[in-house]
Amino acid sequence: MAETTDQRQPVTLDFLGDLKRTHDCGALRSSDSGKRALVMGWVHRRRDLGGVIFIHLRDREGVTQVVFHENVGSHVHARAGMLRPEYVVAIEGTVEKRSPETVNPNISTGEIELVAEKVWILNESRVPPFPMDEFAGIAEDVRLKYRYVDLRRPQMQKNIILRSNVSFAVREFLCSRGFLEIETPFMTKSTPEGARDFLVPSRLSPGSFYALPQSPQIFKQLLMVSGYEKYFQIVRCFRDEDLRADRQPEFTQIDLEMSFPQKETIFDVVEGMVKRVFEVAGCKIEGAIPRMTYEQAMRSYGIDKPDMRVPPFHCVEDLFEGQQLAAEGLPLVAIHIPNTGTPSRKDRDEIKAFGQERGLRVFDDAKRLERDFPEQMARVRERAAAGDNDLLILAGWAGEKKGQRPEHTVLLACGQLRLYCAQKYAGKHNLLDPKVFKLLWVDNFPMFEWDEEEGRWMAAHHPFTSVLDEDLDKLTADPAHCRAKSYDIVLNGVELGSGSIRIHRRDVQARVFSSLGLSDEEARLKFGFLLDALEYGAPPHGGIALGLDRLVMILAGEKSIRDVIPFPKTAKGTDLMCDAPSPVPDRALRDLGIRLRG
Ligand code: AMO
Repeated sequence: MAETTDQRQPVTLDFLGDLKRTHDCGALRSSDSGKRALVMGWVHRRRDLGGVIFIHLRDREGVTQVVFHENVGSHVHARAGMLRPEYVVAIEGTVEKRSPETVNPNISTGEIELVAEKVWILNESRVPPFPMDEFAGIAEDVRLKYRYVDLRRPQMQKNIILRSNVSFAVREFLCSRGFLEIETPFMTKSTPEGARDFLVPSRLSPGSFYALPQSPQIFKQLLMVSGYEKYFQIVRCFRDEDLRADRQPEFTQIDLEMSFPQKETIFDVVEGMVKRVFEVAGCKIEGAIPRMTYEQAMRSYGIDKPDMRVPPFHCVEDLFEGQQLAAEGLPLVAIHIPNTGTPSRKDRDEIKAFGQERGLRVFDDAKRLERDFPEQMARVRERAAAGDNDLLILAGWAGEKKGQRPEHTVLLACGQLRLYCAQKYAGKHNLLDPKVFKLLWVDNFPMFEWDEEEGRWMAAHHPFTSVLDEDLDKLTADPAHCRAKSYDIVLNGVELGSGSIRIHRRDVQARVFSSLGLSDEEARLKFGFLLDALEYGAPPHGGIALGLDRLVMILAGEKSIRDVIPFPKTAKGTDLMCDAPSPVPDRALRDLGIRLRG
């Protein structure tokens, strides 16, 4: 329990003077016993047993137990009695080995304690809004409002230190492979990633705005045109989009680009980098990262970012021809989750309802299916390698064909149902173990996505992505089946990074813009400088960007990227600590030539 302020006595603070720390709070071991040490940090916990006062002193490196015996002298003892959680102190004393029964195996310094002789109180603290090690159940809003306190918690410090180590490993790895770290502007023009821009009004050009970059995409391509050949940047990007647990309005990319690469060249660099990063985090990735095309991912997982910890589903419509189990000409899918035991009636009802809400007809009674279709079901079991103790259901489309690619509409719904089933039974067999890391490359994504609202094709990645050589003719003739030289790296079902081989020819870029319904004039207005640059000797080039926040989130075993970002925004895009965004004085608006409506 946090203490209340009224138990506190007024404290005269000490000066740091010329005191020098000799050890950090994670350093002392039994081999140091007998040595003198001066440690500094925050009071993590305090136990006052009358005569003897125990302090757990914490700094970034760990916790050291300090003991003030009664015979330390009345002044020092009285000062120790004033200490409260989060006071900042310096303590000098002698290291002593603890008796075997008092050793604390949970901390690295658990074999020793520091027998205090002097204490300096360098600063007080108000009662912290939550205790450092009992924060469970504390509302995230409170943690974000007092982020400077929240960031002191050992778990948060571990995450932020991991983040720093990951960034360092990335820099070291890429520099060793000949990449140059080059900065690109934050105050720029709209970039092509498809979200809304954050705009910055210009005072010197009233009525004009800079856009914060959604990514350095165009600039890194220009750097290739300029001959830098291998670029990287650990760079902040800004997107005004709806937020989720793995999305922030400002986030960080590990962004890279290369000239003259094959897709394999980029995969090789990224695999090396990711493996190095995993090593730094204390995990090992064995062997090459598996690959599959987007079409394979859809046919086997019903999603473009398959979580490979869960087995694939299987299309089995060929086994049930003429049986009318689901809509004609569309996939019928067998979903299989191992070692679930016989599902309860309630589980089956919930699975069925989940599928129905997504337009599926779900056959949740495996026994009945086996009775009605014994031969077919034997082959389904064989195809899915499903045992008697596993969940096995069939799902197909219930209604009319829907969407530009109706088979994908069905597969996507089945993919959601597969994940729903996996989550339902995850606890039982540790199927979604966060300590198991499954990486995957998915490539050859569709070049275009149909935008229902706009009623036109949009670039699925971004409009600078190359088309597969053999699909060039489909650019206008069959956009739904036109594939791109694009790829994603996926980790445990999360899109970690995305990239492509770019268009380096002006004529091809113009054809893609026209497929997207962008007139020459519009294209010039938006990306004229890139189009011009393509006319000045642009080399073939390609690259990728990985989300640093997402990577660290997964490595740290966290569920939200907010837990690996020092000062994140809430789901509403606000900063509760600084109170941003906030209104500005009228004068500031006037200077910018802005008048607010309404
Ligand atoms: P893309 O838009 O796919 O590609 O972004 C690359 C990676 O950045 C991460 N990411 C995010 N992380 C947190 N919050 C967000 N709002 C957010 N948006 C994206 C994801 C994603 O995979 N310029 C291209 C890359 C390229 O083609 O080289 C791009 O930005 O992990």
